[in-house]
Amino acid sequence: RPMPLPSANLNIMIRAARAAARSLVRDFNEVEQLQVSVKGPGDFVSRADQAAEKIIVTELQRARPDYGFLLEEGGTIEGASRHNRFIVDPLDGTSNFLHGHPHWAISIGLEQHGEVTAGLVYDPIKDEMFTAEKGKGTYLNERRLRVSRRKEMNEAMVACGLPVLNWKAREKGFSQQMEKVADEVAGLRRNGAAALDLAWIAAGRFEAFWEYGLKPWDLAGGLILVREAGGRVGRLEGDDEMWEPGTIVAGNPDIYDKMRHLLEPVTPGL
Ligand code: IPD
Ligand code: CA
Ligand code: CA
Ligand code: CA
Repeated sequence: RPMPLPSANLNIMIRAARAAARSLVRDFNEVEQLQVSVKGPGDFVSRADQAAEKIIVTELQRARPDYGFLLEEGGTIEGASRHNRFIVDPLDGTSNFLHGHPHWAISIGLEQHGEVTAGLVYDPIKDEMFTAEKGKGTYLNERRLRVSRRKEMNEAMVACGLPVLNWKAREKGFSQQMEKVADEVAGLRRNGAAALDLAWIAAGRFEAFWEYGLKPWDLAGGLILVREAGGRVGRLEGDDEMWEPGTIVAGNPDIYDKMRHLLEPVTPGL
């Protein structure tokens, strides 16, 4: 099926992501020279993240001066229009990036009246632009995507994240989650970029994904990719508050249901 014309908003988001990608690719090629600071345990930020975020905000603000922002590095910018905001992770997979591991992406979601209506995840290394708009399906570059049709856990490839930002959380439930899943599935992966994990579910490369402690900017771009490709995304502690702390689960409908039955929520440490 040919790709429907992107809306003006999605076009603006795509342009901003491509501009930021050029800056990120330049920095990635000289990654040993980057200045890095530590935000918390296992959480780093570099000049590359900040430069990319600035490019994205500048581009989006020029086109939509009244929209607000939720930015991983820059925090919140209130817009004149209360009901429209961009949720931006300028570089998802910073640890990979800083180690020269070529698996990282830009993630941008547009939230309107509390609902994500457009999203993208862009992997510049593979030149894979994943986009979705509400009701219009998910695309990888020009190609329509569907989640995989594998129905059995013993044929499922499942991705996860490690809750290193809250090590205690790991002691109180994450390793049990891991063990249960590992016992049942065909493969378990920790690729290190949550936005791409979601995009890869949309593309049928993973049957499911779960992670404790994700933030709105890790999710906003990818969540709509999964849903518009026929998959599901939920939060073990309650699906109505996707941005609140908790365990996010995503997958094709069959494996998603099985994962939700299998996984107990993590109890946050302290
Ligand atoms: C991180 C990545 C990682 C996930 C972490 C995120 P960042 O985002 O998505 O895969 O496990 O929870 O914080 O910091 O590289 O943008
Ligand atoms: Ca980060
Ligand atoms: Ca992230
Ligand atoms: Ca980031």
